[in-house]
Amino acid sequence: MSLTIAVPREIYAGEKRVAAVPEVVEKLLKLGFAVDVESGAGAAANFSDESYQAAGARIAGDAAELMDGADIVFKVRAPTPEEISLLKPGTTLVSFIWPAQNPELMQALANRRLTVLAIDSLPRQLSRAQKMDALTSMASISGYRAVIEAANAFGRFFNGQITAAGKIPPAKVFVAGAGVAGLAAIGTAANLGAIVRANDTRAEVADQVVSLGGEFVKVDYEEEGSGGGGYAKVMSEGFQQAQREMYAKQAREADIIITTALIPGKPAPKLITVEMVQSMKPGSVIVDMAGEQGGNCELTVPGEAVVRHGVTIIGYTDLVSRLAKQASTLYSTNLLRVTEELCKTKDGVINVNMDDDAIRGLTVIKEGSITWPPPPPKLPAAPPQAKPTAAAATPAKKSGHGHGAGEPASAKSLALMFGVGALLFWLVGAYAPASFLSHFTVFVLACFVGYMVVWNVTPALHTPLMSVTNAISSIIAIGALVQVAPPLGAGADGRPGTLILGLAVAALTLTAINMFGGFAVTRRMLAMFRK
Ligand code: NAI
Repeated sequence: MSLTIAVPREIYAGEKRVAAVPEVVEKLLKLGFAVDVESGAGAAANFSDESYQAAGARIAGDAAELMDGADIVFKVRAPTPEEISLLKPGTTLVSFIWPAQNPELMQALANRRLTVLAIDSLPRQLSRAQKMDALTSMASISGYRAVIEAANAFGRFFNGQITAAGKIPPAKVFVAGAGVAGLAAIGTAANLGAIVRANDTRAEVADQVVSLGGEFVKVDYEEEGSGGGGYAKVMSEGFQQAQREMYAKQAREADIIITTALIPGKPAPKLITVEMVQSMKPGSVIVDMAGEQGGNCELTVPGEAVVRHGVTIIGYTDLVSRLAKQASTLYSTNLLRVTEELCKTKDGVINVNMDDDAIRGLTVIKEGSITWPPPPPKLPAAPPQAKPTAAAATPAKKSGHGHGAGEPASAKSLALMFGVGALLFWLVGAYAPASFLSHFTVFVLACFVGYMVVWNVTPALHTPLMSVTNAISSIIAIGALVQVAPPLGAGADGRPGTLILGLAVAALTLTAINMFGGFAVTRRMLAMFRK
């Protein structure tokens, strides 16, 4: 029996997003689910009830009616106590939850015997999880919107222009914190033509800043800024002092400052002081995206835009909701990807498989038991350990008795394998015709080189390696072409036999798939890095 996914109207003040858009509803139906949507759920994001109906959803009059038939609930904001009371025990909820910050909510959801998948708890470091990463999709939107808000409040062009009336200098934008949101802001501001500078405590983001058209400004103080998992940590007092000096200089020069600096589980670092605001030119703008966590600027009023010392300080906490249609589309696509992982059989039934790393991380409550926090993620394939040194190996040899029973079985089988291999080579060498031998030698060497290349390369380098091997494999095509076409100047009798011709054509076909497939995959990979 297929399950019903319910999509309620978000009731949190100012929340305009909806957890499923009509386009995604259609795809959920194709996965075998039924979809119910509360009347008006998409209205704030410009999706009418009719558009949901056209996509195949049923419209429920109110939340109580909706939840009555729900097996799975898709939400944006964590449910309120009233919303929780409407959820039937056994329902699966997929939503933002923030379990670390909301222990009471977690208890209430567990008491209701729900299964809860917190989209914010996705293990983001898994490359497979990227398509489900709502934190990233929402952060990119807010970064973009922060620049738009800044442009709206700023009284000048972003790009430099030469007009008949005179030369206009480009605006100078400084971005504090170059995570997902910061990078989106850098890209957007650079596209609008501003001069963009950025800083982050994690030095590894410098290249990304540059690739998006910004300039990375370093703090003159050596300290590792990574706190694990790709996130930042609280920096030492010495670093903070050096950072304040650098930020003070940037504040004097910048027209617009966009701050995005966050440290998981900690209040936002105060990076822009009152004095820095005072030093800015009148008409300058600060967009503080860390408002909800206390703000990066000392004068931010979370949720509001205020003018202090002639500087507009925007502390909106609803930047994503200000792009509700886009945010809903991306968020619901993330939820669709989660659903695809839960329903691999495409039969409208979900399997919350706790052996799957991504699902394990997402699942914070399973049938009423709190399963958060998840065990530490399994480490990605590490480069091979250094072989034991000769010195370390010597005592083992001494204590063992030559090739006696103490030797591991794997060493024995390896020796046997080598023995058999050597015998085979000898037989080939002794009996095979000379013309075959030269080809065979090349073949054996190619296998050896191929083995060494693939097994000795760090997994992270496999993708570029694939491209190279793909290119090399095109050589097969040349060989096949030589076989198919008559040799230069040869007559009809110079043509190869049917078997060789058949093999050559097959090789050509397979290589063509390999070549064109390779190009297509490379194109898709590159597209991921394009704006
Ligand atoms: P975030 O929202 O927690 O923090 C925003 C940025 O503020 C971070 O770059 C952080 O380093 C910076 N920051 C913190 N304290 C600062 C300070 N005192 N001064 C200056 N900057 C400061 O982080 P977000 O954007 O959610 O992601 C952080 C990183 O994780 C990103 O670089 C992102 O690329 C990476 N990430 C990796 C994924 C993966 O491995 N697949 C998936 C998603 C994100």
